[in-house]
Amino acid sequence: MHKVSVSFSPSGKTISVDQGSTILDAARETGLHIQSVCGGDGVCGKCRVIVKKGKVESQPTGLLTPEEIDDGLVLACETKAIEDICVEIPPESRADEGEILMAGQTVHKNFDLYSNAEKLEPTIIHEAKILKQSPLATKIFLKLPPPTLTDTVSDLERIYRELNKKGISHIQTGLDNLKNIGEFLREHNWEVTVTLGKRNGATKLIQLEGGDTSETNYGVAVDIGTTTIVAHLVDLVSEQTVCSMGAFNKQITYGDDIISRIIFASEKSGLEKLHLAVVDNINSLIQDCINDCSSRKKTVRLEDITCVLCAGNPTMTHLLLNIDPGYLRKEPYVPTTNEMPVIRAAEAGIRINPLGLLACAPGVSSYIGADITAGLLVSDLTERPEVSMYIDMGTNGEIVLGNQDWLTCCACSIGPAFEGSGIRSGTRAIKGAIQKVKIDNATKQASVETIGDTPANGICGSGLIEIISELLKAGIINKAGKIQPLTSHISHLVSRIIREGSEGLEYIIVPADQSATGRDIVITQADIDHLIRSKAAVYAGISTLLKKMNYAVKDVSKFYIAGGFGSHLDIAKSIDIGLLPNAPLEKFSYIGNGSVEGARMILLSYIAMTRARQVADKMTYIELSIDNSFTEEFISAMFLPHTDLSLFTK
Ligand code: FES
Repeated sequence: MHKVSVSFSPSGKTISVDQGSTILDAARETGLHIQSVCGGDGVCGKCRVIVKKGKVESQPTGLLTPEEIDDGLVLACETKAIEDICVEIPPESRADEGEILMAGQTVHKNFDLYSNAEKLEPTIIHEAKILKQSPLATKIFLKLPPPTLTDTVSDLERIYRELNKKGISHIQTGLDNLKNIGEFLREHNWEVTVTLGKRNGATKLIQLEGGDTSETNYGVAVDIGTTTIVAHLVDLVSEQTVCSMGAFNKQITYGDDIISRIIFASEKSGLEKLHLAVVDNINSLIQDCINDCSSRKKTVRLEDITCVLCAGNPTMTHLLLNIDPGYLRKEPYVPTTNEMPVIRAAEAGIRINPLGLLACAPGVSSYIGADITAGLLVSDLTERPEVSMYIDMGTNGEIVLGNQDWLTCCACSIGPAFEGSGIRSGTRAIKGAIQKVKIDNATKQASVETIGDTPANGICGSGLIEIISELLKAGIINKAGKIQPLTSHISHLVSRIIREGSEGLEYIIVPADQSATGRDIVITQADIDHLIRSKAAVYAGISTLLKKMNYAVKDVSKFYIAGGFGSHLDIAKSIDIGLLPNAPLEKFSYIGNGSVEGARMILLSYIAMTRARQVADKMTYIELSIDNSFTEEFISAMFLPHTDLSLFTK
């Protein structure tokens, strides 16, 4: 097959591919990530690139305007390289740019898991004292008495005997460790450090090291989000995070949301590709953390990292362990398991100490995963007698209602609209993305604030909420979200900012001559309809859950908001459009990335790990897809803010 080269700017990367390969495939092979919401099916229009030089063959598409085609824009998934070509990937098409929510906020600052110890079984408290550094890997230094003719206890029993003296019994050892124990103990003069960990209910002897290495023990807490992956390298002795790193999930190139990934996993080699992508992500983040430490003159070696604790939605944890997630989306929606077994990290391809362990926080159902269990630990919802609600908004919405005695939860599909996907001028929260909007009531013109204060190149999730709220306030859209035909008293003012586009009326937020892309940044009627469906799904999930449990919004003492929006989310404007329930603002708290923070807590504490299991066991899952009341609530919420305005009177 004849080869051609594809050069990408601004990265400067070039790759040689078979003639006729698509630009999207060439980018994937190069390791560049172009937004591809539809996974390359040519229907989302997000993979726009500019062909600067060379001959290509493009499928005709209605997703680009004639002006865009004149500017050289093509869809990367629908365009084949016929000869050597140069391609520019504009910022709004780059899938690996944007803000990553690196940390969560523990709501109760003095949250001491030991303070709840009296509620726990004595055996759990006992285990917690033994597995002090981490339930997955705690190091203990042993000075063993050498054997004599009067003390002929076996080498392994000699170790167990010493551990017994410290109150540790019922330990298991694998054949790998056993084989070399005799030589190892003698070589190190009977002074060794054992690493113990909890693996699937049993206390295991994970590794033996010569001398005292008990003060050098690191673990990694990982949040595997559909969009981003965040890793915290934690010193298990001092309990401090020594470095945290984040990256965009490399699986994005195979589809933006969970469903498109599950579909991709069912294709030939799809599962393997998705598995390798997430493993590669985690390995790179761990290596980045090590490099960062070394640049600060702190030495952490891969062998010093003895465990990894991951939290993520069920699709992500299935893919991490190379398990087909196919049944998660097939009725009756059953995961392979809600609690992944603890395995050697090497079995999954994660590079840490070769004997180190990998575990996932427990999940609840097909769509309520380890990320929610972990996030709940971070909030104090499960510790309080008052009823509270936890709302995690990403491409999926997960909602939990409950208190210290009971928990009920549901999940709803929000779609990637609030991440800017499927929205004409939508983008992730990258530099130049509009995040704040104000519309002047007299001129009806928008003024915007962008991330990094640079010219606007698109509008991100928090900006989309603001624009809907402002359009409503300015009377440009009605309560059904429909852009209003020009009325006489404002027509002369709005004629330049509202126009008929290919998808009906559209509102120009930033004109082409002021934008970074040289194109108008607009919100179309189709975008607004899309966003209203997304916000209605969240609100319907919230109201269905409340009604099922016979609660009203006023009965909820706190609302914890987790997920990608972070603290950029304007709660008041979210209430204005009926995304969040109408409650006093002081009842809302941001959790941020609760998943990684909860994973860190579990990594560090056997009691936190036990609490996570108890929380997962306690949760009752309500499947909304078969619930008629959800459909009714959804239809009622398809207005701004809602068909029942009494729910939103201040
Ligand atoms: Fe190309 Fe969706 S249109 S990836």
